[in-house]
Amino acid sequence: DRRIKISPSILSADFADFGREIRGIEDQGADWVHVDVMDGHFVPNLTFGPPAVAAFRPHVRTVMDVHLMIAPVDPFIEAYAAAGADILTAHVEAGPHPHRTLQAIRAAGMKAGVALNPGTPAAAVAHLMDLADLVCVMTVNPGFGGQSFLDMTGKIAELRTMIGDRPVHIEVDGGVTPETAPLVTKAGADVLVAGSAVFRGGSADEPAAYGANIASI
Ligand code: DX5
Ligand code: ZN
Repeated sequence: DRRIKISPSILSADFADFGREIRGIEDQGADWVHVDVMDGHFVPNLTFGPPAVAAFRPHVRTVMDVHLMIAPVDPFIEAYAAAGADILTAHVEAGPHPHRTLQAIRAAGMKAGVALNPGTPAAAVAHLMDLADLVCVMTVNPGFGGQSFLDMTGKIAELRTMIGDRPVHIEVDGGVTPETAPLVTKAGADVLVAGSAVFRGGSADEPAAYGANIASI
């Protein structure tokens, strides 16, 4: 299914009201819900871990798209499966054995994603295509919402060629706005993560504002 999907990042949501924020974006047309897990080590910021992700689960009616910005990954895979992640994405830079990590994610019953930092070439995931359900192309250096878009359209196009006819999504994460979204979809991306662009001007008090923002992306 190559229809363009929007996966709003709740990194830009009200952290004291995730249930309502998730309901708000889904009611307004979000296809997936993107959950950014940061460990203060792989990236210079900290968010939440498995107990919080488990608490989000009953509020997510669509697809819980969990992006791990942590290292190591392998010791936590079972915990995110138990927390109810549908898709679990690990960074290719997070450890020396990405095949093992992706196999373990699938073996735990989840879809497996592999993410690439902006400085990492497409070739780093060339040998992982049969083990991945999703490739996440970072268009910012991960760690914070609201950063400006880095042009990775060449990398996206290379990945689309590499994927061929396999059913692998290309997700783009970071600085996605109504201006940058067409660039990445044209290059071959089919899942757009957006944090600040979706929650901008929106709030738990006025969730309909998300809808206008989602539609504009
Ligand atoms: C960045 C996170 C992103 C982030 C995107 O480290 O992985 O998912 O929330 O935020 P925006 O859309 O504001 O760049
Ligand atoms: Zn993310």
